Amino acid sequence: MSAPGLPMTVPAAGLPARVRIHEVGARDGLQNEKATVPTEVKAEFIQRLAAAGLTTVEATSFVHPKWVPQLADAEDLYPRLAGLGVDLPVLVPNERGLDRARELGATRIAVFGSATETFAQRNLNRSVAESLAMFEPVVARAKADGMHVRGYLSMCFGDPWEGAVPVPQVVRVAKALLDLGCDELSLGDTIGVATPGHVAGLLGELNATGVPTDRIGVHFHDTYGQALANTLAALQHGVTTVDASAGGLGGCPYAKSATGNLATEDLVWMLDGLGVETGVDLAALTATSVWMADRLGRPSPSRTVRALSHKE
Ligand code: HMG
Ligand code: MG
Repeated sequence: MSAPGLPMTVPAAGLPARVRIHEVGARDGLQNEKATVPTEVKAEFIQRLAAAGLTTVEATSFVHPKWVPQLADAEDLYPRLAGLGVDLPVLVPNERGLDRARELGATRIAVFGSATETFAQRNLNRSVAESLAMFEPVVARAKADGMHVRGYLSMCFGDPWEGAVPVPQVVRVAKALLDLGCDELSLGDTIGVATPGHVAGLLGELNATGVPTDRIGVHFHDTYGQALANTLAALQHGVTTVDASAGGLGGCPYAKSATGNLATEDLVWMLDGLGVETGVDLAALTATSVWMADRLGRPSPSRTVRALSHKE
């Protein structure tokens, strides 16, 4: 039997016992919002996400404020999160960003590269090689300081300007990010075009070139409704770190065709049903997304949030 508001648990073979959700709602979810979200609302959002059981909550980005105006309040926001007791990674593109994050005591950063030249130029104003050169001292200094470093890789499955992205091209940049010293890699389907066979194929190629699955996380946007299917394919491959955004918030300001990330509630519904542990309280998480949707003035795109908050 299932409790109200929860799926019936029926385990399936070949899946991990536990998944770590890397919650990106406050960063990837909000970075594209046109209207400025007040800093106190962002802080309460993150506090509520932590209270709902999410242990990794990406907080903000220390990027140029002109490039992502929504996150220009990083210096104001980050100190408000002290004492939450969860990991609060932040995006850092360069040494200037690292200095800003370190000043505030951040211990987990993420650099963000691209598998394609066009997106590297649009997102970082650099070629792929130039962006890797920009990350090199960032990762070296962060590691020397004992920080945890995530390496995001965007456009792993398709690019709005270049179309299909060859798997060897993705593998080459993925390995370059890990060679810089990144602890983990997050494979981004920035525009949500991946399908499950493609996901399994890329993971297999990464393994074949010496990248172990336990250093890989997956980051699916849900533009074509494939994010959950792609996640299941990754779990079947042994991946245990999955990025998701509360309420399905999101989009990328420098890739217009990208919509929100995989909704955390949709992910938790599936994992609860499969008996895969996440530590997340689905009711508390859904209440948080409904609260955030009220602040943003439009309903959450998450199917699970809509179903669980539907009133007769
Ligand atoms: P640039 O214009 O080439 O910067 O931008 P620059 O290095 O030439 O420096 C120009 C000025 O900016 C200098 O100031 C710097 O100090 C300042 P000036 O000397 O002229 O007074 N500056 C900074 N100020 C504050 N913080 C900084 C910083 N850096 C330089 N960190 C830059 C290059 C990388 C800065 C810019 O392109 C940028 O900020 N890009 C960020 C784009 C972004 O955040 N995109 C969204 C995140 S990625 C994503 O969403 C994908 C992901 O979700 C995965 C997926 O879905 O695929 C992760
Ligand atoms: Mg993203």
